[in-house]
Amino acid sequence: MYIVGGTASSSIAKDLSKALKISIAQTIQKRFPDKEFYVRVLDDIKSEDVVIVQTTYPDPNLVELFLLQNAVEEAKAKSITVVIPYYGYARQDTKFQDGEAISAKAIAGLISLNADKVITVDPHKEHILDFFSTSAFSCTAVPEISKYLLKKKIDMILAPDKGALNRAKEASKIIDCDFDHMEKTRIDGSTVEMKPKQLDAQNKTVAIIDDIISTGGTMALAIKELKKHGAKKVYAACTHGLFAGDAIKKLSSAGCDEIISTDTIQSDFSRVNIASCIAPLLK
Ligand code: R5P
Repeated sequence: MYIVGGTASSSIAKDLSKALKISIAQTIQKRFPDKEFYVRVLDDIKSEDVVIVQTTYPDPNLVELFLLQNAVEEAKAKSITVVIPYYGYARQDTKFQDGEAISAKAIAGLISLNADKVITVDPHKEHILDFFSTSAFSCTAVPEISKYLLKKKIDMILAPDKGALNRAKEASKIIDCDFDHMEKTRIDGSTVEMKPKQLDAQNKTVAIIDDIISTGGTMALAIKELKKHGAKKVYAACTHGLFAGDAIKKLSSAGCDEIISTDTIQSDFSRVNIASCIAPLLK
């Protein structure tokens, strides 16, 4: 068995290799002067079970994944498992308006062409796994994020919308604290509205948990609400930290005390390693 780490997820590949005692296949991965990607697998992986690890965000990493899959297939591996720590395009999981592409389905179809099994982490909605025509599984970062939060003496976990409520419930069980949720309406890709709500946050240390922080709009509004209600400290935690545009600035100005994400997308805020959540699915 071999692990092939793409450039977006090389540290997760190393963590998985250590945890599962599987060798990392030697590769050459580089970009031509015109930025096109090149990959060559140097180890003999013929008839081996191969695990490719690559986040598909932003777009160039998706093309890298397709080429990694092709290289492994051309080398005649016995099986290909694709681990996608962050599956980009998952949020367009239906036609919200006539004429739209169902991006989550389109990309899943392409990845499935060269995969025997797909594993991803906290997909935006669980049903996107059905878009893969190969067997697809997910795991969650919530237990690991909760372990990190245990050190922070959290009084309450807040879900920024009802969709995130199960995550908040799960975290609150691990941390042994209360949970609540906000009422959010998305206006467009970068604007959200949050209904003011009676929150019991006075003097409390609160962690907001979401699957994704993209523009930071959702988190920033939730942080402001909590501060308005007298919260002492507010942590913003997510599995996938995209931090698009001025997201970090928005969160800081809203009064966030710490931003926490996993390393599904590597950033300065990757405080939680995801490999231990993925490893059991590879055993
Ligand atoms: C939406 O349902 C997701 O769970 C996140 O709340 C959303 O993707 C966050 O996006 P943004 O940071 O742009 O508000």
